[in-house]
Parts: sequence; structure tokens; C-alpha cells
Amino acid sequence: NGRGKQATITIAVTNKELRDKFSKINREIGGWDEGFDPFYGAPVILIVLADKECLTGIYDGSLVMGNMMLAAHSLGLGSIWIHRAKEEFELPEYQSLLKEIGIEGQWEGIAHCAVGYMDGELPQAAARKDNRVFWLE
Ligand SMILES: Cc1cc2nc3c(=O)[nH]c(=O)nc-3n(C[C@H](O)[C@H](O)[C@H](O)COP(=O)(O)O)c2cc1C
Repeated sequence: NGRGKQATITIAVTNKELRDKFSKINREIGGWDEGFDPFYGAPVILIVLADKECLTGIYDGSLVMGNMMLAAHSLGLGSIWIHRAKEEFELPEYQSLLKEIGIEGQWEGIAHCAVGYMDGELPQAAARKDNRVFWLE
């Protein structure tokens, strides 16, 4: 993390009712119809937020997400980055939720890491585009 600030936090949502509440608001922000679950049935949602005061907060939070997904994979779990945390935590209700659970300050939502056991096989990674590394030799 930038300058050793440790300016990210993670909210681990395991409560089904709250998990469904986040699913609903995420679906609404994304513009999907009722019935679609943007978390694909995952029972645990790890929400990463960064201190708005921290200049490297977004990058720090993204790195937390990447590491979480690798850690999940190493444990045999499936995980996926689900977006729209920024928009969620711009809503007064969600900033209040932070206060309710004792989190002070101003936090920017970075992403949700939806975690669960995979239903099926690990999907194949998409073919990588060419010419994305430029060498200065
Ligand atoms: C910044 C970011 C945002 C993403 N947001 C979503 C999302 O909101 N919903 C979703 O289903 N997948 C989301 N994903 C997952 C990507 O769709 C998935 O990583 C990609 O299709 C797989 O390609 P990859 O192996 O190159 O990452 C997101 C991934 C990243 C990195």
C-alpha cells in the first residue's frame, strides 16, 4: 500500500439479509431487471473501501482485491470482482451504514469480491490480446 498508509478497509458481509440488500442496490445501479443477482449466488461479499483522503486509495484497494481473488483461488474458492461499490457508497444510506458499524471518516467504495464455491468447473481464461507489452531494449 502506498506510503504504508494501510488506508483500506474490508467489510465481510456474511449476513444473508444484508448480502441480498447489497445485491439489490448493485442490480439497480447496474440497471438490471428484478431477479438478476449481480453476485451470481455467492454467499459471501467482501467489500473493499479506501480512505478518500489517501491519494493511493484506489490503487491500494485494487491491489487488495487482486490479492483476495488469488487467495480465494489458492483455497479452492471461486471469486469475482463485482463493480459499482463507488456508486453504492455515494448513497447517504450506505455511508450511514458505515457509521452504524462504527466506521468513522469518508470512504470510497472500490469493489466487491464475491466469494463462494464454484458451481461447475473453473472457466478457461479468455485468450489474451497481442501487442500489449512494449519493450525498450
Ligand atoms: C475492474 C473490474 C470490474 C469488474 N466488474 C464486474 C462486474 O461488475 N460484474 C461481473 O460479472 N464481472 C466483473 N468483473 C469481472 C470481469 O468481467 C472478469 O474478470 C473478466 O471477464 C475475465 O477476464 P479476465 O480473466 O481478463 O479478468 C470485473 C473485473 C474487473 C477487473
